[in-house]
Amino acid sequence: MNNGLALERPDPVWEADELAVHWPRAAGERRVDSAAETTPLTVLAAVPSAPLLEVRDLVITYENQNTGELTEAVSHVSLNIQAGEFVTIVGLSGCGKSSFLNAVAGLVKPASGTMKVAGKRIDGPGPDRSVVFQKATLLPWRTVMDNIIYGLELRGVPKPIARERAESCIDLVRLRGFEHFHPHALSGGMQQRVNLARALVTEPQLLLLDEPFAALDAITRETMQNELLSIWNVTRKTVLMVTHQIDEAVLLSDRVIVFSDRPARIGTEFKINLPRPRTQEARYSPAFDYLAKEVFGVIHSSASKREEPEYVI
Ligand SMILES: Nc1ncnc2c1ncn2[C@@H]1O[C@H](COP(=O)(O)OP(=O)(O)O)[C@@H](O)[C@H]1O
Ligand SMILES: [Mg+2]
Repeated sequence: MNNGLALERPDPVWEADELAVHWPRAAGERRVDSAAETTPLTVLAAVPSAPLLEVRDLVITYENQNTGELTEAVSHVSLNIQAGEFVTIVGLSGCGKSSFLNAVAGLVKPASGTMKVAGKRIDGPGPDRSVVFQKATLLPWRTVMDNIIYGLELRGVPKPIARERAESCIDLVRLRGFEHFHPHALSGGMQQRVNLARALVTEPQLLLLDEPFAALDAITRETMQNELLSIWNVTRKTVLMVTHQIDEAVLLSDRVIVFSDRPARIGTEFKINLPRPRTQEARYSPAFDYLAKEVFGVIHSSASKREEPEYVI
């Protein structure tokens, strides 16, 4: 199916039905074999192409306006994401995940380091990136359709053309029939669908998601995870997501990166070689269980080093 949003992804160079996978270990990194020796795994061999997102040595500090005190939120983080990859960052609350994502979005200016999308330096928001936050910030006086095309209109796309371009997105997020509704008449999940469509309609190269389903109830969250899985299947968008839900990270991602406690550094990185296309069924595989427990273990160990007794992720 081609809805005009699809990105080309290189074909797997080779595949294996049953494989034990071993990943190289970076200095100080724990060894993680997703080890499901008996579980079918598909491995995409590394394709030697330039990464879509390149972050080098990123440092983010905030200055307290009253005291002038500096807080380091992100410390020397380097991260590459290949085109078509779905990468998720998890970590303790307040460790610097949103700061990192906002910097990539161009909404937070880093103290130092470089960021590039498709080789182009990031120095502010740009049409190559779209962000979806936890809260769907829709314009209440605009219909679903007019909310979706708002970004295109701001870029000077004439309304009839913008509406035409939105058609495939409306189908993609399954809002057909609701185009003329106003946000107040939509459930939280439907509002977040509009938000997703609004992010996709501009055809960004990189989709940035910050806890996109955190405000939704458990069942709606599962539904939205399914939607995101099928949207990714169709579009093969490059995604960088932040979530505090470990199971969500494992279910959706090709790679899960655990940030250390603040200031955020890259901690352990997990390759999620569960077969695609995925559905919620993937949760019941031993490999899923294994990976989720491993990720939880890494986060738990950084939580135990925190001074506050509270354990929040
Ligand atoms: N705009 C800001 N001004 C000052 N400090 C901030 C700002 N945004 C975040 N911080 C601080 O930076 C740290 C990391 O925050 P954040 O990136 O939001 O963490 P996370 O998304 O992992 O919960 C926290 O200590 C937070 O208080
Ligand atoms: Mg956050």
